[in-house]
Amino acid sequence: MYIGGVEVMKGNITPGNIAEFIVYLNMLAFPVISLGWVTSLIQRAAASQKRINEFLHEEPEIISPKAVDHKLAGKIEFRNVSFNYPDTGITALKNVSFTANPGEMVAIIGRTGSGKSTIANLAMRMYDTTGGEILIDDLPLTKLNLDNYRSQIGFVPQEVFLFSDIISHNIAFSADVLDMPRVEQAAKDAAVYNNIMELEKGFETLIGERGVTLSGGQKQRVSIARAIVKHPQVLVFDDCLSAVDTRTEEEILSNLGRIMQGKTSVIISHRISTIKNADNILVLDNGEIVEQGTHSQLMELKGPYFELYEKQLLEEEEQA
Ligand SMILES: Nc1ncnc2c1ncn2[C@@H]1O[C@H](COP(=O)(O)OP(=O)(O)OP(=O)(O)O)[C@@H](O)[C@H]1O
Ligand SMILES: [Mg+2]
Repeated sequence: MYIGGVEVMKGNITPGNIAEFIVYLNMLAFPVISLGWVTSLIQRAAASQKRINEFLHEEPEIISPKAVDHKLAGKIEFRNVSFNYPDTGITALKNVSFTANPGEMVAIIGRTGSGKSTIANLAMRMYDTTGGEILIDDLPLTKLNLDNYRSQIGFVPQEVFLFSDIISHNIAFSADVLDMPRVEQAAKDAAVYNNIMELEKGFETLIGERGVTLSGGQKQRVSIARAIVKHPQVLVFDDCLSAVDTRTEEEILSNLGRIMQGKTSVIISHRISTIKNADNILVLDNGEIVEQGTHSQLMELKGPYFELYEKQLLEEEEQA
């Protein structure tokens, strides 16, 4: 008998050579199955590569100018800034002007959708303004080298993002070398150190999809530790204390007061308790600054800030 031109069995058909035939058949089956398997792998890889190429060839809208590195002093100025989101055309900010000087804590408060995160995104140059100008140390933000600028800012976005990696790598992810004492200090300042030490493997604990799931508040605090570990000249917190209880929040804020001496912080929050010690509070409504000043100045105005304060006080009393 011949298979593919090769004589595999000679002579008469006997039980012995039937068994031999089946062995040969089995030997033939595996390569055929793997051929199908490899073909499907190749097709999947080709589809993935196509998508990866699309991503790699994407032209960024924000282009960093070829500028020399600038060491931040930390002055942030918004001058009549307006902004429309390009994809929806929604006007998120209208004529926003304020200044944050080194050593100051500027807070932004306002109802949901009022444009708070948009201010943070523009300050990080995730988008360029559609009107007005942002000045950093009196230089237009668009003239600064983007990587160098962002590397000097500690930014905690509203949507916390953690990698599927161990906690210490998540905190020190922007550093080239892992400096454990520094990572531990950042975790202590972000009031998450004790939570981490309670885990079986401490800072070596794997988190994310393949590891331990942290609570919302713990994630926020790991993210805060990541922002402060690099001792930034400017800190931008986008509502990142929302899932933290008020006592822990006070602890973090008092640590920040120490760390951020002489540096600039921009703190966005829904809660007045978070921001009442700020040097300047911007009250945002529908993309506009409707009031600005210190807590006591705003309380005297008896405007939107005062109303918000009364409302939150009532809510706290109801919960107590
Ligand atoms: N990526 C985006 N694309 C299009 N429109 C957006 C985008 N992000 C926000 N917006 C719109 O811009 C406006 C301001 O949104 P923003 O996120 O700045 O509000 P916010 O004050 O941070 O709200 P919250 O307190 O809920 O975080 C909203 O009307 C929102 O729908
Ligand atoms: Mg927001």
